[in-house]
Parts: sequence; C-alpha cells; structure tokens
Amino acid sequence: MSSPAIGILGTGAYSPAKVLTNHELARMVETTDEWIVSRTGIRERRIAGKTETTSSMAAAAARAALADAGVTPEQVDLIILATLTPDQPMPATACLVQHLLGVPPRAACFDLNAACSGFLYALDTAWAMLASGRYRHALVIGAEKLSTIVDWTDRSTCVLFGDGAGAAVLGPTRGTAQILGARLYAEGAHAGLLCVPRGPKPFIQMKGREVFKNAVREMEDAVRDILEQHGLAASQIACVIPHQANLRIIEALGKYLGLPPERFAVSLDRHGNTSAASIPLALDEARRSGRVRAGDLTLLVAFGAGLTYGSALVRW
Ligand code: UT7
Repeated sequence: MSSPAIGILGTGAYSPAKVLTNHELARMVETTDEWIVSRTGIRERRIAGKTETTSSMAAAAARAALADAGVTPEQVDLIILATLTPDQPMPATACLVQHLLGVPPRAACFDLNAACSGFLYALDTAWAMLASGRYRHALVIGAEKLSTIVDWTDRSTCVLFGDGAGAAVLGPTRGTAQILGARLYAEGAHAGLLCVPRGPKPFIQMKGREVFKNAVREMEDAVRDILEQHGLAASQIACVIPHQANLRIIEALGKYLGLPPERFAVSLDRHGNTSAASIPLALDEARRSGRVRAGDLTLLVAFGAGLTYGSALVRW
C-alpha cells in the first residue's frame, strides 16, 4: 500500500495584544532602538498577558488553523505541540489544548521540545504518523511564552525574544499544499551554546556569536541537502520561510544560497524570535498576505538550541 499524500490543509496564528517596542526596552536595559534594529532587524515583539498561557495561545492559533482548513475538532486525532515553555512540566500542554478545543479522547496528544526547530520536528513527526495511515488529521502547533524564561536585566538576550503561537492542520490531500520532504538534524556537541539551566536563574543563556555562525552553516546545509534530495535548484524555491531569529542570519543564508531577500518571508521585525512559534507564524502571515500562491514551492528551514536544525519542502 502506498502512503497517502499529506498536505497542510490550513494555518493559523495568535499574537498577544501587548506590544513591547525597542524604545520601551531602552528604558529597561542599556540598549537603543538603533542597536537592536541594525544587529537583529527586530523593532517590536508581543508579550503575553498574565492570563495568557502557552496553552491558551496554542488553542487560539489552532482554532484559526482549523477554520482555515474547514476541519472540525471532532476530526482531529493527533495534536503535537512544539514548545520549550509548556504551561507545566506535566501534563503535556497538548492535552490542555485538546480540552480547550474539544478534540475527542481518541486523539493522541503530546508535546515535543526541539527548541526553535520544534515546529519542523513536529511537522515531520505528524507527517510520518499520518502517512502510516493510522491517523487522519493532525494539529501541529508551535507556541511559546518565552517572556517567562527571559532575563529582563540581560540586554544581550532580552531584546531578542517574544511570545506567540502558530498552527497548521495536516491531513490527506489530492496534491495541493503537499508536504514533499523533511529532514531533521541535531548537534548535541553544541548543546551548551544556548540553554536554560536549572537552578535559581532558569533563564535563556546564549553565546550569541557562536550560535549565529552555526545557525547560518546549519541552515545552509539543511537547505542544500533537501534540494539535492529532490533534484531542485535554490532558484526554483518561490518562498523560503526561515526561523525568525535575526535578519542578518536570514540575509547571510540568502547570500550563500544565491537568493534575493524578496524570496524570504520575514516577520521578526514585529514578533522578534518566538522560537517554535516563529515558522508557523511567518507561514500563516505569508499565506494570508498572498506571498505563497498555488503551485509555489516553499522551503521551511529552522535552527535552534540543541543545536537542532532541519528543513521541509511544501508544494502549494
Ligand atoms: O533561535 C536561536 C536564538 N539565537 C539566535 O539566533 C542568536 C544568534 N546571535 C545573534 O543574533 C547575535 O549574535 C546577537 C544579536 C545576539 C548579538 O549580535 P552581535 O553582532 O553578535 O553582537 P555581540 O554579541 O558580538 O556584541 C557586540 C557588542 C558587545 O559590546 P562590546 O563587547 O563590543 O563592547 C555587547 O556587549 O554589543 C553589545 N551588546 C549590546 N549593545 C546594546 C550586546 N547586546 C546589546 C544590546 N544593546 N541589546
């Protein structure tokens, strides 16, 4: 029996209402709007309110994705939530999202942590489970409340991150929005470059320059691998949806691949780095703004703590 074709039937996103601008940050730590914009491309980020949680943001993004796909909660039999900021260590936040959405008990629900590559790890996992024929409709969600693990006195990290959620509904397709390939990687030797240690200060710690260099190299490798696997040239990709960490990383990737900046979807100027939420947020924005059109080849590419990285190819 050949595997059924699996596609992205719909996407959705959720961003908290509260905006934190660079100018406001400049009143909190020693930094300037000019430094943040020129080094990262970030102008503002969204910060979750007290009552907003990873599960509530995930559920809001998932509802939008279900509406976009025309799929009901009753039809969902798999929820994979990529996050490094679950509501609690247990139960899995995916189970809380299941309850919020009214997805029936016969669904499998679990969280997955691959940091900023989480959405692609979840996408590939869901794709494999759906392709097995044993599940039919999956919610793949990236959601983060990073504001709870940011050290707001550390200017080298606090200017980078934001909160939010993005989601995709995966299911059988007759050819549109088909997932053609995905490939995941990890380099545990570099685990110490980006981490949240246990102890009295459980905040994001990062060796920024090293992460930057590895990020560009890893994303370029991931893109070249998947293009080679599918016999494609970079020029055939209509739109790249990269992890949204730093505009200079995206620009460097474009330079190495020989792709102009217009081929890259960018949302970090308004959201900052939302880790596992960044790719589905950017993807939803790209689809809704008409940036991704029927028949287009789209390449999703991520890197993050682990160091994890990966890519996926979708024909719309
Ligand atoms: O999802 C994965 C998450 N991580 C990333 O993607 C991060 C990858 N790395 C980066 O994006 C960049 O390395 C940063 C944006 C974090 C930093 O940019 P950089 O160009 O690598 O700067 P740097 O760390 O080498 O710091 C340059 C200077 C330093 O001052 P000195 O030592 O040259 O006097 C820093 O202290 O900039 C200073 N600096 C700041 N100045 C103003 C660091 N943060 C700030 C700040 N405002 N917010």
